[in-house]
Amino acid sequence: MRDATGAVQSALVLGGGSEIGLAIARRLAGERTRRLVLAARAPERIEHAAEELRRGGAETVETVAFDADDTEDHERFVDEMFERDGDLDLVLLAFGVLGDQDEAERDPAAAVAVGRTNYLGAMSVLLRVARRLERQGHGTIVVLSSVAAERARRGNFVYGSSKAALDAFSQGLADSLEGTGVDVMVVRPGFVRTKMTEGLEPAPFATDPEAVADAVIDGLRRGAHTVWAPPVLRWVMAAMRHLPRPLYRRVAARS
Ligand SMILES: NC(=O)c1ccc[n+]([C@@H]2O[C@H](COP(=O)([O-])OP(=O)(O)OC[C@H]3O[C@@H](n4cnc5c(N)ncnc54)[C@H](OP(=O)(O)O)[C@@H]3O)[C@@H](O)[C@H]2O)c1
Repeated sequence: MRDATGAVQSALVLGGGSEIGLAIARRLAGERTRRLVLAARAPERIEHAAEELRRGGAETVETVAFDADDTEDHERFVDEMFERDGDLDLVLLAFGVLGDQDEAERDPAAAVAVGRTNYLGAMSVLLRVARRLERQGHGTIVVLSSVAAERARRGNFVYGSSKAALDAFSQGLADSLEGTGVDVMVVRPGFVRTKMTEGLEPAPFATDPEAVADAVIDGLRRGAHTVWAPPVLRWVMAAMRHLPRPLYRRVAARS
């Protein structure tokens, strides 16, 4: 249960090794979140991050095994998370893969793998999380979508379409949960300098994980349903969305 000031007391990060996810976790720990659970494919590799969060103010930080692609195991995983140590106030969906667009166009199996993780894995775990939060009667789901969800680009339409599906699903999930005490906040970052984008040319308005974390914490305080990081992207993408296709192709090819 959130405390008297509305601060989140317990949070689960799905994709616990994500640099954006960890930046948000650090901010939560600094804002009095007492219990954090980091769920990752290789939990042993994020022990150092858990230790940093303990030093940053969290009382308990656990690392647990979770694979978004292993949808057969999601029921057990979610039940265990909610039966372990009481309520979860916040569940952050931070996992995702960028994939390689050229490879995905050559090898459809590579494209399917991106869709499986970013969309099918997310849908599978979020539906189960939503059911448990609803039963609990309160909670917030934060979903890391992307500006790429707003309008597909030639250069990364496989990733972009997987995020568009995730984004639409999350909005619908939010609507389905209205009146239950459970909220869904969709976060649309632009280019963020993390290991996911390492080696890529930064896009305009590139930012870092800490700035995304600031936007998320601000969004949680305001009870926002959608957060852009940086906020100016809301207006940039509103314009991009309405550009005629031939013009969009030329502009997007350069961004
Ligand atoms: N960086 C950007 O420019 C940007 C922009 C907009 C949105 N986003 C979104 O923000 C989220 C976080 O990205 P990031 O920049 O923090 O990248 P990141 O540091 O590479 O984090 C992505 C995380 O996803 C995890 N993951 C991948 N496949 C998984 C699976 N099958 N099961 C469980 N975990 C899995 C990875 O785990 P491993 O450590 O095991 O590989 C990694 O920890 C992603 O959803 C991404 O699409 C990123």
